[in-house]
Amino acid sequence: MSNYYFPKGFLWGTASSSYQTEGNNQNSDWYIEEQLDGMKPGPERRLNGPCGIACDHWNRYREDYDCAEELGVNIHRTSIEWSRIFIEEDQTDKTALEHYKQMLMNLNARGIKVMLCLHHFTIPRWVYEKGGLENRNYILEHFKRYAQLIVRELGEFVDYWLPVNEPNIIAINGYFSGLFPPYRKKPLQYFKVLKTILQMHLAAYDIIKNDYPERPVGVSFAFLHFQPFNHKNPIDRISTKITDRLMNLILLEGINGGRFHFFHRKHMNLRGGKQKLDFMGVNYYSTRYIKGMHPIKSKSGDIVTDMGWIHYPKGLEDVLQYLHRNFSIPIMITENGVPTGNESERIKYIHEHLRVIAQAIENGVDIRGYMHWSLTDNFEWDMGYSMRFGLVHIDYKTQQRTIKEGGRWLAKIIRENSIALDP
Ligand code: BGC
Repeated sequence: MSNYYFPKGFLWGTASSSYQTEGNNQNSDWYIEEQLDGMKPGPERRLNGPCGIACDHWNRYREDYDCAEELGVNIHRTSIEWSRIFIEEDQTDKTALEHYKQMLMNLNARGIKVMLCLHHFTIPRWVYEKGGLENRNYILEHFKRYAQLIVRELGEFVDYWLPVNEPNIIAINGYFSGLFPPYRKKPLQYFKVLKTILQMHLAAYDIIKNDYPERPVGVSFAFLHFQPFNHKNPIDRISTKITDRLMNLILLEGINGGRFHFFHRKHMNLRGGKQKLDFMGVNYYSTRYIKGMHPIKSKSGDIVTDMGWIHYPKGLEDVLQYLHRNFSIPIMITENGVPTGNESERIKYIHEHLRVIAQAIENGVDIRGYMHWSLTDNFEWDMGYSMRFGLVHIDYKTQQRTIKEGGRWLAKIIRENSIALDP
C-alpha cells in the first residue's frame, strides 16, 4: 500500500459558522423568518424548524475547541455574527465583541490558526428591514463599518480572512431558487445581488489590507459542479454550460478580474476589482446532472448522501484543474464534507476527496490546506438539524459532544500528514 505525504506545513482544519452553531441569534434575518415560518400551517412551512440554541457554541466554545485540539487541526474556520455586534444601525454590543475576542484568543492559545469569515449567509434584522442585499448602497455602507470595527478590534487574532462565504449560494438560494430568506425567485435581482456581494468582498478586502497588508484575504466559493445528464444529448450539454456560467463563472471571473459579464459580453466593470483575492477557497460537496433545463440530483447506481447529493470526487478534480488553469493564486479547500449518520460512509467520502487533493498537489496545483465541514453537527439552514455533517456528534438534548469514528480517522491522517493512496 503506497502512501502520499502532504507538504510540510499543510493546513489541516475544521470549519463552522456562527449562526449554525452559536444559538440564540435573535437579531438576524433568519431568526425573523423562522418565527414567521413557525406560525404557518405544516404544509406551508419552508424551513425545518427554528435554529434555537443550536449547539450552544456561544457558551460551549471551549468544549468545541477541545475537540478541535483533540482532532489535531492547526487551523479553524469560523465566522462572526454581524447582528450580534451591531444590534442596531448605530448601536454596537461591546460585550459580544469581547466574547468573540475571547473565542479567537482561545484558538490562538491552542496554536490553532484562525480563518475568519465576516458574512456567512445571515444579516442583521435592521439591514433586512431596509431591503437587505437589494438595498445596495445601504448594505455596503454598513458592511464596511462592521468590517472596519472587526478588523480594528479583532484583527490581531486572525490569520486568514474571508469577507463573504459563498456569494453564489447567497444569491442563488435567496433570489433564484427562493430557498433562503428573502425567498425571491427573480433572476434580475439575482444579478443585482451578485454584484452587491462582489462589492462587499472588494470593500472588505481594502479595509483588511489597510491594517494587515500581509494577511491573506480570500473567498470561500461554492463550486457547483454540473454535468449533462446524458452526455450525448446536445440540449443537456448546452444547458450544463449555461448553468455553469450562471451559477459559477460570472462571479468567479468578477472576483478574479473585476469584470462581471455573461457570455463574454461586458456588463459591468468593477473599478479597482483587480487581484483583490489572495487565495481561492473551494467549497466542494458534489455534482448535479442537468437534464433539459432541470437539475437532477442523482441517477440510479449513484452513492447518495442524506442530503441526496452523490459522492463525486471527480468533480473536485475538475474544479482544481479549472482553477489551476485560470487562477494564479493559492487554493484552500474551505469546505468539504458529508451529511450522514454512517461513519464508514464519512470515512470513504473524506478519503476519496483527500486522494483527489493529494493527486492534484502532485500534479503541481498549489493547494495549501483542507478545512472539513464541519467541526460539529449543526443547524443545516432550511434542513434544520436533520443533517449531520460533524466530525463531532452533538446530542441536542444534552449538548454532549462526542468525536465520531470519522473524526478519529481524520485525526490520524492529520497526525501522520499522509493518506493511503489505495482505496
Ligand atoms: C455552507 C454551509 C453549509 C454547507 C452544507 C455550505 O453551502 O457554507 O453553511 O452548512 O454548505 O450544506
